[in-house]
Amino acid sequence: MIKLEDDNKINRLEVKQDKRRMKTKRKTEEHAAVGGVFDKFTLVNLNKILNKGIIKEFVGIISSGKEANVYFAFGEDDVPLAVKIYKIDPQNTKWMKNYIIGDPRFKKIGTSTHKIIYTWCKKEFKNLSQMKRHDIIVPTPLLSRDNILVMEFIGKNNGSPAKRLKDIDELVNPIEEMNFMLDQISKMYLNAHLVHGDLSEFNILYYEGKQIIIDVSQAVSIYHINAPVYLQRDIKNVLNYFSKFIDSDNVPSVQEVFEKIMKNA
Ligand SMILES: Nc1ncnc2c1ncn2[C@@H]1O[C@H](COP(=O)(O)OP(=O)(O)OP(=O)(O)O)[C@@H](O)[C@H]1O
Ligand SMILES: [Mg+2]
Repeated sequence: MIKLEDDNKINRLEVKQDKRRMKTKRKTEEHAAVGGVFDKFTLVNLNKILNKGIIKEFVGIISSGKEANVYFAFGEDDVPLAVKIYKIDPQNTKWMKNYIIGDPRFKKIGTSTHKIIYTWCKKEFKNLSQMKRHDIIVPTPLLSRDNILVMEFIGKNNGSPAKRLKDIDELVNPIEEMNFMLDQISKMYLNAHLVHGDLSEFNILYYEGKQIIIDVSQAVSIYHINAPVYLQRDIKNVLNYFSKFIDSDNVPSVQEVFEKIMKNA
């Protein structure tokens, strides 16, 4: 019998701290203000990216949060881009370490705030690439440089971004949508060998009738000590969201979904 979150004793404190962080993060995301400035290092790097022609023009800000700002830009041939710029803030590095240490892909992370944030940004790029290779629907990653990540923009060509699943009032076929997302979680674990770690209606975009997973910087290898706890939390968030649209008889339990994935691992 596989243990569920409640009787799982590993790193209880870490999980508790994490829950608090998620709560404040959600609040910030909900009240995201438009604004923000670049620090000196980011400006230098942005200029390099601009000079290389990867980004042709910055158009505006899409989102401003505690960890990062996301901008809309145009690249070569007027291709719309999303540019995520991580803030060099020592406050963020404390909890970020929990998702880096123990991931066999990142052995040397450095101690300075800069180095940790750069690793974090590279981690999001690697996670996006790894997911994409295994048919998980995520924005295509294009470039990562220090604290700057350039990726495919999901939304209209005029810069209006896709809605988050949280902001969708009606789903035509919620059971199908739920099963699609559970399948994405399963593929992520079994094929990409990753657990998202912050999956919820806040980090899923909905565009042209399709769900697209975003914000994958915290995703960990399935060999990370907390991977089972994060996996259960992701499943729980997704089931909670879809249960608003679906009769409870048609919503599986967290344990059912979790055990099905584990059986195939
Ligand atoms: N590729 C993209 N295309 C369109 N919009 C995007 C893209 N990536 C992010 N966004 C928008 O920016 C918002 C914030 O992005 P994301 O969730 O990746 O950042 P975050 O880590 O949650 O940042 P913070 O918590 O600091 O706000 C998303 O909710 C979404 O609206
Ligand atoms: Mg987010």
